[in-house]
Amino acid sequence: MSARGLHDAPEQSRSGVTSSAAANSGIARSGQGSATACANIALAKYWGKADRTLNLPAVESISLTADSLKTETTVHFDSELATDEVVLDGAFAEGRSAERITRVLDWVREEGGLRSRARVTTYNTFPTGAGLASSASGFAALVGAAYQAAGLDVDAAQVSRRARRASASAARSVFGGYVRLAAGLPGDDSLAAEPLFPAEHWPLRMLIAVVDRKKKATSSTDGMERTRLTSPFYDAWVAEAPKYVEEIRQGLAARDLERVGRFMERSTLAYMASALAADPGIVYWKGSTLDIYHRLRLEREELGLPVWMTMDAGPHVKALCEEADADRVRALMHTLDANIEEVIEVAPGPGLQLHTRHASAC
Ligand code: DP6
Repeated sequence: MSARGLHDAPEQSRSGVTSSAAANSGIARSGQGSATACANIALAKYWGKADRTLNLPAVESISLTADSLKTETTVHFDSELATDEVVLDGAFAEGRSAERITRVLDWVREEGGLRSRARVTTYNTFPTGAGLASSASGFAALVGAAYQAAGLDVDAAQVSRRARRASASAARSVFGGYVRLAAGLPGDDSLAAEPLFPAEHWPLRMLIAVVDRKKKATSSTDGMERTRLTSPFYDAWVAEAPKYVEEIRQGLAARDLERVGRFMERSTLAYMASALAADPGIVYWKGSTLDIYHRLRLEREELGLPVWMTMDAGPHVKALCEEADADRVRALMHTLDANIEEVIEVAPGPGLQLHTRHASAC
């Protein structure tokens, strides 16, 4: 798929979702929409739900939208189709991934009074389902493209709300820079993410050491639910999380990396501690995960390198640092005798972008 058209000078629509100039009128007629969304990496973590049906998080979270981890999605409502067809990274999606996508399409069909099934084509620029937040960028792009294909002119908050119901972290990918998603109130479907600071506020870097590209054994959805139901530490995590969020918010406002980094690590280790204590325990780390973590931590504690680490529902280590230290952190990762497949660098990136191009142009 070529990236042609993706970086056409965008204009900000009144809704706040970035849209190519002619998008709304043309797409409404053709029944087709395309969108690009970036994944995001949580600095303050979400782990656990307040309401499973509406997919509302039990804790507030803050993320950085990751510019180089992208999903591009095209949705085409076509009255000739008997069922929804989903092609994910060149292969037909089946089972749970296909069902989750059809569920999102059903919400949009209901809002737009549409009956047609859809053809969905989606590509990630990074490994899917391996703890690199592909569901975040994937559902944000899907919801944006589906609304556009249905000819519905909704605002960014509505896109974020629907994306949240599909996957809570996806709500954050609708916005660029640094983004917050509040905790949900059971039964209240209005929750959407909100931009906290734009990307230009602070051009930090995340160096992601990709430890294993294989799909993870326990999805974040299953992992957090098992933690909620069985971990003796779950309530403690939910009680502590708001403190980390507040420190991280203030650290971002003051561009205080030590404060952001310190509480990002605490948020990470605290939610992971609750997951480790679930029954059966959820262990996303590999040996290489801990090798990288210890090495970077030693470098910080002994040599003063300002770098802090986070991990999500996978074995990769994501190291947060200033732009000036990114090369040193990357070099350190590469000198390790750990099983690192790739190091991906991300900076704060843009929010959801809608495009006019068609699937045939990909
Ligand atoms: C560890 O958003 O993937 O990455 O809402 O069930 O789809 P669902 O979960 P998801 O969970 C992300 C968990 C995390 C932390 C985070 O991104 O905040």
